[in-house]
Amino acid sequence: MTLSAAPLSPHIGAEIIGVDLSKPITGADSAALLELFWRHQVIAIRGQEAGPADFIRFAEAFGTIEPFFISAFNHPEFSQIYVLSNVRRDGKPIGRDGAGTHWHSDSTFVEKPSSLTLLHGVTVPARGGDTLFANMYDAYDRLDDATKAAIDGRRAIHRYQRKEFVFSGDRAVSAIEQTEIDVLKRARLAEDAARVAASPTEARSNKEPDRLQPLVRTHPVTGRKALYLNAEMMVGIEGMAEEIAVPLLQRLCEAATPQDRILRFAWRPGDVIAWDNASVLHTATFTPPDQPRVMHRLTIEGDVPF
Ligand code: SIN
Repeated sequence: MTLSAAPLSPHIGAEIIGVDLSKPITGADSAALLELFWRHQVIAIRGQEAGPADFIRFAEAFGTIEPFFISAFNHPEFSQIYVLSNVRRDGKPIGRDGAGTHWHSDSTFVEKPSSLTLLHGVTVPARGGDTLFANMYDAYDRLDDATKAAIDGRRAIHRYQRKEFVFSGDRAVSAIEQTEIDVLKRARLAEDAARVAASPTEARSNKEPDRLQPLVRTHPVTGRKALYLNAEMMVGIEGMAEEIAVPLLQRLCEAATPQDRILRFAWRPGDVIAWDNASVLHTATFTPPDQPRVMHRLTIEGDVPF
């Protein structure tokens, strides 16, 4: 296999050509894949005929798969896989609906956040359900010197908060979509509260202690500096008055995700993507309820950010 990369946007992401997920990736291809991944930060392998076992084997090329901290929507046969979906069977959701609809890096509220996340588009919508990505090396490099000086060495306070259906990540939402979102949100809030109360792992995750994470992290592989943010879960900055810290965090999140520098990934059936949580923010977007979406999700263990 000879791998090549075609950029998905001017600022982040590449499609990798030459990977077949139904076969193991070995030797030189595995090294080339990792090199392309760290360079492009988000990679997509499009249109794969891959099952859950293929997806798991592919993910293992990047490190050790970790169990997701909530077990409510694990795949029935492959428990490492967390299912995201808006599909319901017999009135019950088959996966987590409306997850990650704000700009974030994954699991910043635990001591060792996931280094990588992978998604497999098992059933993809014809309309909506895109995933957006922003480059946090670029976001840090674009800050003015005064802002860099104000945040270098500082730690943000991350608090796990259940804010499903916030849909704050996608700023390109039409008025019609906003009405659809509001209707869906009202219908789901009570249901969500009932599910959390019944799930020990979800109830426990709501009690996670606050975590302090560097606002600027040094990438463990590339050594580059990157902004490290989570728009809905940062509640302050250590040692800084809340009235200064909260607006500063909001400004950083907005500056990090300008519309003209993000990658909007529109899914096709069988696509697999992987992203680097140490240098990328991502957000899910709205999927209209009449458009079925089933995604398989895996995460790879990470280290304590520094
Ligand atoms: C996530 O934040 O992990 C979900 C992204 C998506 O469903 O598009």
